[in-house]
Amino acid sequence: AETPVAKTPPMGWNSWNYFAEKVTDADVRAAADAMVSSGMRDAGYIYVNIDDGWQGERDAKGVIHSNARFPDMKALADYVHAKGLKLGIYSSPGPKTCAGYTGSLGHEKQDAQTYAAWGVDYLKYDLCSYLDVMKAKAPNDPEAQMRLMESAYETMRDALDTTHRPIVYSLCQYGMDAVWEWASDPRVGGNLWRTTGDISADWDRIYALASQQAGLAAYSRPGHWNDPDMLEVGNGQLTAAENRSHFSWWAMLAAPLLAGNDLSHMSPAVRDILTRRDVIAVDQDALGKQATRAYADGETEVWTRPLQGGALAVAVFNVGGTRYAGTHPFHLDLAKLGLRGTQQGEDLWTGKAVTLQDHQPIALHTHDVWLVRIAVPKR
Ligand code: GLA
Repeated sequence: AETPVAKTPPMGWNSWNYFAEKVTDADVRAAADAMVSSGMRDAGYIYVNIDDGWQGERDAKGVIHSNARFPDMKALADYVHAKGLKLGIYSSPGPKTCAGYTGSLGHEKQDAQTYAAWGVDYLKYDLCSYLDVMKAKAPNDPEAQMRLMESAYETMRDALDTTHRPIVYSLCQYGMDAVWEWASDPRVGGNLWRTTGDISADWDRIYALASQQAGLAAYSRPGHWNDPDMLEVGNGQLTAAENRSHFSWWAMLAAPLLAGNDLSHMSPAVRDILTRRDVIAVDQDALGKQATRAYADGETEVWTRPLQGGALAVAVFNVGGTRYAGTHPFHLDLAKLGLRGTQQGEDLWTGKAVTLQDHQPIALHTHDVWLVRIAVPKR
């Protein structure tokens, strides 16, 4: 059964991309604090999600306990809730999580009850060691293995339902088994599902994941979203242009916007990207239609996203190498976007009015983006 959550793509923060399994209660509280003080909460970021690394052992009754880095989960949830935020947690259908912590196999109902008692609002459920369980149960039968995987996600769905708490259900199995085709089925009730392997804080990986989303638009809709993985904005050595493009691309894709950086120590430049309202509005657009690739032309990709009220978002990405830094021969082909004649729009990163002319040359730096909203497209 579905829970009435994630009507727009979930927004928040997740511990994994920056803190990995060393995350502590203090890190999570600091992230919650920073989510408020940075203006992120007011810009729509709500979920504070603990990823892998919080789990301790089960007691004699089989109840899962957090480890020493998380002395009191209920108190942590209360802290997060008191700030007007929500708490997320992480587990696996297997015996172990990807980082080797205790998974939920055989304890799904119990774990769901524990999460609900703590006040958890979001669960990321990561396949990890269940892959080995599938292989052991159905050796040499990939189809039977996939059915086992689906049923493992159904088992946790049922467990979540018995709590009667609205909990966002995030499937993480790296896009296997064309997950987008079954994850939103009511028997699974996935609110989001990873479509790919893991992201990392480098442009080539970000670009690879983004371009893999072409063709998936039909599967995403309010309550149910493709998830090309969490944000790396502000992590590693990403340039300002790369951070902007990454964020723009995820907004075009109606992707969950889960910041993955150290919110308490981010630069104003990174904060400004994460809180850019006009770009967030594209991500959160009520129509809930994901962008499609209008065309790719050498070092350029042009994506369009229909928005509520007939508006259109257009994103032009320079995905090329350094030799195309500065001006270079990109020419916008409006016909390929289904548009005719000069268009009036707004540049969503500068807030300035812009005119789009057919075949106009575009000066875009390496890995940068031009993101435009056309309120009344002329077709
Ligand atoms: C997998 C997931 C990541 C993260 C780690 C944690 O790799 O895809 O997002 O949750 O596990 O171990």
